[in-house]
Amino acid sequence: MDFQHSHSDNPHTSAIHPPEKHRIQESNLNYSNEPTPTRPLSNYIVHCHTPFNAEPQLPLLVNSGQITPADVFFKRNHGPIPDITLDDHKVYIGVKQNPQYYFNAESPAVEWKQLSMHDIMTKWPKATITASLQCAGNRRDGLAAVKEVKGVIWGAGTISTAVWSGPRLCDVLKDVAGVSSNMLHEMIRDFHVSFEADDHVHEDVCYGSSIPLRKAMDPAGDVILAYEMNGKPLSRDHGFPLRVIVPGFIGARSVKYLQQILIQPQESMSFFQRQDYKILPPWVNHDNVDQSWDTAASLTEMNIQCVICTPTEKEVVASSKPVTIKGYAIAGGGRAVYRVEISTDGGHTWEPVDKMEQRPDKKSGMYWAWALWEKTVPRMNKSTEIVARAYDSSGNVQPEFPIWNYRGVMNNAWSRVHTLPVLQHHM
Ligand code: MTE
Repeated sequence: MDFQHSHSDNPHTSAIHPPEKHRIQESNLNYSNEPTPTRPLSNYIVHCHTPFNAEPQLPLLVNSGQITPADVFFKRNHGPIPDITLDDHKVYIGVKQNPQYYFNAESPAVEWKQLSMHDIMTKWPKATITASLQCAGNRRDGLAAVKEVKGVIWGAGTISTAVWSGPRLCDVLKDVAGVSSNMLHEMIRDFHVSFEADDHVHEDVCYGSSIPLRKAMDPAGDVILAYEMNGKPLSRDHGFPLRVIVPGFIGARSVKYLQQILIQPQESMSFFQRQDYKILPPWVNHDNVDQSWDTAASLTEMNIQCVICTPTEKEVVASSKPVTIKGYAIAGGGRAVYRVEISTDGGHTWEPVDKMEQRPDKKSGMYWAWALWEKTVPRMNKSTEIVARAYDSSGNVQPEFPIWNYRGVMNNAWSRVHTLPVLQHHM
């Protein structure tokens, strides 16, 4: 295949290279061009308008079904939404220390190639996967209730599911960067693929992140460069014109407004890879956090999660009538949700849910999308608390209590909802 290559007289520089980026102070970020008309605010709990961070109301989320419409899907941004045009957008793909050139001193340090959106949309087969995205900060409110945490205080709606389409990253990297799966046992086995966005954030020069090359090159890893969501071009909120979808991983790795892909020996140096999205040890707090980032691993796969969406906290429920409980569950890394259990006596006894639907990917057989489940209990009796927990296919189960960490990530404690008994005159 033919792409624009970097040609240079100087072997250590590259004629084609991504635009230079500069860090912008928080007060200078420009939010005047946000795509506000496409956001039906009544669907959302808006935590912040600049940057726009909003999660759907839980009953709306679960009642929207297996596939979340774009105007219900949660929206998580670290900066202003860039206004990019399809025709002008370029994606740069590079290899740092390309193994093919390891022993060749003449080779450039990074060899860049440039793709247009037309290339992305026509040169490789279009793959389609149904995958849930869940922010690692989903349910941060449960950890904030234990002790102060840093970050947007999300509820349990920072998860949604869509049908994503675009070329497989492994196909693109094979053709453009010359990486093949059979190279993986050798020098590049522990390499990473880093992604950079065409946006501005105050924490770094742009939003960025990385995933292990092994995940990127695994055909059953199903990492795609998505230009469509639910059969339509991505909206600006969700990454127009191109984003990465890394199914099974925390949402932070699915970089929107994708501009640069670099294969490199180490993880991305981005703030969002190195100083965020990590479970810091429990002794790390506001005062010692700066020295502690390297002590924790960058998050990759999601953990086992299950949340009650209806009834909602403090909803009035008749104690003598049947109550239908609905929610979602998801496991990381493509594992299946094996079982969801409900307790109405504080976790002493449990019962399975009545209905649960989770569909594996047709090709890879991996479970990238959530399970939606339902259970009707005949009556609440004296109890007003409903508890839910899930097991995945590897036997992982949610912990009873939240495990606090300063960044408030990966809270997957048992889901608890406290209903209010209906008042006598309502009966
Ligand atoms: N990509 C860019 N360029 N900028 C961002 O702020 N947020 C990340 C990820 N990709 C982000 C990004 C995080 S933390 C999450 S959870 C998902 O995008 C959210 O995707 P969504 O807004 O489409 O729901």
